[in-house]
Amino acid sequence: MSDVQAPRGTFDVLPDDGRARLRLLHLAEETLGRAGYGPVETPVFEATDLFERGVGDTTDVVEKEMFTFDDQGGRSLTLRPEGTAPVCRAYVEHGMHKAPQPVKLWYWGPFFRYEAPQAGRYRQFTQVGLEALGSDDPSLDAESILLLDDLLDGAGARGVRFRVSSLGTAETRRAYSDELREYLRAREDQLSDDVRGRLDRNPLRAFDSDHPGTRAALEGAPQLLDRLAPEDSEHFGEVRRLLDDGGLEYEVDGTLVRGLDYYTRTVFEVESTELGAQSALGGGGRYDGLVELLGGPRTPAVGWAAGVERILLAAAGEAETAAPDVYIVVADGAAAPAAFILARDLRSRGVAADHEQAGRSLKGQLKHADRLGAARVVILGEGIEIKDMGTGEQHAVATLADALAELA
Ligand code: HAM
Repeated sequence: MSDVQAPRGTFDVLPDDGRARLRLLHLAEETLGRAGYGPVETPVFEATDLFERGVGDTTDVVEKEMFTFDDQGGRSLTLRPEGTAPVCRAYVEHGMHKAPQPVKLWYWGPFFRYEAPQAGRYRQFTQVGLEALGSDDPSLDAESILLLDDLLDGAGARGVRFRVSSLGTAETRRAYSDELREYLRAREDQLSDDVRGRLDRNPLRAFDSDHPGTRAALEGAPQLLDRLAPEDSEHFGEVRRLLDDGGLEYEVDGTLVRGLDYYTRTVFEVESTELGAQSALGGGGRYDGLVELLGGPRTPAVGWAAGVERILLAAAGEAETAAPDVYIVVADGAAAPAAFILARDLRSRGVAADHEQAGRSLKGQLKHADRLGAARVVILGEGIEIKDMGTGEQHAVATLADALAELA
């Protein structure tokens, strides 16, 4: 065993998992593409400032979890911890606000957070996500949530539960933050050090805490959902109506706060009861101020991201093996070149074909073909035989052309 290992919190994808991931990627392309979302790719690293400004410098992600480094020119760069700020940057940089709105985009790729690794939580993980920019129509909120449900459903994720809420506008949230801060100040001795330390900057994060005293203190706390401005309540009501019309089961959870600062109005999370402590499959919401915060025009937007590894854990299907249709056994070494060409000819006709390439004995080759799960075997020796591995039936054919005609 080598003493070189992948870094902590990272993992290698081997072919069985690789196939399941590609299937999910194609499902995403189909599901989101049908709804008018186009694929977008942004760089794996960005200027650090994008995340400090966009995600918020009091969030865990920015405070503790970013992989940040200086390049040779002294510029601070960060491996992207999330995709929304980069997509907004690309929207502004490419003048997408001048295109017909909304601009609907989806993405898939690696993201990086320095978190304590455990089952379902990694330092490099994969997100699939979408962003719809340029409209505050509540149908976009509802459509995006339903698309996430469609994707999870198509992937076979089990025990899926949606929670939905609204945070109102930035102003509502500010006023509510002040009210909550005062409420928690009066109960300061019950709070965890962490929550107390953040009371000034971000009291809403108290709702994320597992600390028993903090949870007890929060029981009678004022609810943000009760403080929404009439137009935000109306917007949320419309989102809920459309989700009901779409047949989604969900819970309205007024304590739902997301770990990133850019959210306004609708927020949602989806978890799976099949997963352990890291139960969040995905989350998202509206971020009507982010594009402007990054220097673009006022642009309402909504989106989500989901963890690819977690979706596959919640689906936990059979490992996907790839059995060849045909395995070509070389019974006589002189037939090896013919096996090579027959495999190519079969593949060019769409048949998954493999041939002996490791010097096994005849018996070893047949065993190998069986282990691979090949449906049929061609034996090239003095003659040409085709064997059906299911029935065991075996017969001779006269020429390679006959074998090709029968197998392709
Ligand atoms: P997020 O909730 O931070 O949202 O991440 C979305 C999902 O990424 C999580 O629910 C989880 O499945 C997965 N994830 C996050 N961290 C890890 C990790 N360390 N290991 C494995 N999986 C992880 C966002 O990132 C927002 N950008 C979503 C969004 C898009 N909001 C609006 N548009």
